[in-house]
Amino acid sequence: MTVPLLDVKNLNVTFQMASGDLPVSSDVSFTLEHGKVLGLIGESGSGKTVTSKAILGLLPSVGTAKSDFIRYKGRDISDLPPHEFDKLRGADLAMIFQDPVGSFNPVKTIGWHFRAAGRVHPEGHGDIAADAAEALRKVDIADPKTALKKFPHQLSGGMLQRCLIALIMFSRPSLIVADEPTTNLDNLVERQIITLFDKLRRDIDASFIFITHDMTIAEQISDDIIVMYAGQIVEHGSAKALMHAPRHPYTQGLVKTARELEGDVDTLTEISGEVGTGHWPDNKCRFAPRCPHYQAACDHAVPLHPVAGHGAVRCVMATDKEATR
Ligand SMILES: Nc1ncnc2c1ncn2[C@@H]1O[C@H](COP(=O)(O)OP(=O)(O)OP(=O)(O)O)[C@@H](O)[C@H]1O
Ligand code: SF4
Ligand SMILES: [Mg+2]
Repeated sequence: MTVPLLDVKNLNVTFQMASGDLPVSSDVSFTLEHGKVLGLIGESGSGKTVTSKAILGLLPSVGTAKSDFIRYKGRDISDLPPHEFDKLRGADLAMIFQDPVGSFNPVKTIGWHFRAAGRVHPEGHGDIAADAAEALRKVDIADPKTALKKFPHQLSGGMLQRCLIALIMFSRPSLIVADEPTTNLDNLVERQIITLFDKLRRDIDASFIFITHDMTIAEQISDDIIVMYAGQIVEHGSAKALMHAPRHPYTQGLVKTARELEGDVDTLTEISGEVGTGHWPDNKCRFAPRCPHYQAACDHAVPLHPVAGHGAVRCVMATDKEATR
């Protein structure tokens, strides 16, 4: 049996606040295979960033992560000391944030970043300058020599995100977490950047966790999708299954809105209400206050359970019987 690239089991993240402990991510489990893209979707505050940061050892000091294990290439990294994590992040793991500015040292040129990355893997690069220019050309930067001499603030958001993608292509990590990397960009640049991500994925055979609010982008780029709601996974399956036959009412709402956005409608269907923050009752479905299908059976802890031919769903209505209908 092949070992998955990433295997996360029962990850729980809590923030220690002045008002008490705030659980923000509960019982998150999934595996990610080599070369695959996992889309992570859910509305603001559902725990996407916190979950990903916990996996990469990037939680702020007020955050605590507990899990059965977080295995990266078979090695449990859940309790890795910070200096070991730093090594792993430099060479193997990368995170791309919404705002690429934060990923660059503002007082260093783009070229400096490539040279620093080249020192981590000197064996991978015969000529760092030539390889850096080649990586920049692959992300359609017409004049790599000039771009390498620029400081981050001298480039537009779209150009800087391209430089970051090029830097990652150059560094060749095995796992890349991209946290809403196109949110600040206009539609045209967003589409171009998504295409580049696809290219990057094939080029370096990396695995991605791709966080987005946008179901259409998730569908386009992902092999599998996880939908998070209120810190929990509510649905997990192939992108095809989730987009064509969503089983959780929350996913159904997201897909409906995504299809409306693609079509020609005057008014979008909203999922009324808000996700709220961390103090959810354990003895009922967290989506219950907003769910159009709420019933008495929902007033119990609802487990994420496998549904044949689909994946896993956290809803009392999702059964194998229903799936085969
Ligand atoms: N440093 C922090 N201190 C306290 N609470 C935090 C901190 N960071 C995040 N949270 C809380 O954790 C919860 C999950 O946040 P997270 O940033 O993971 O959401 P998200 O799904 O990524 O949302 P978005 O789509 O807006 O980025 C939120 O309720 C948020 O307020
Ligand atoms: S368990 Fe009940 S309240 Fe929760 S999503 Fe399913 S039908 Fe809705
Ligand atoms: Mg986030």
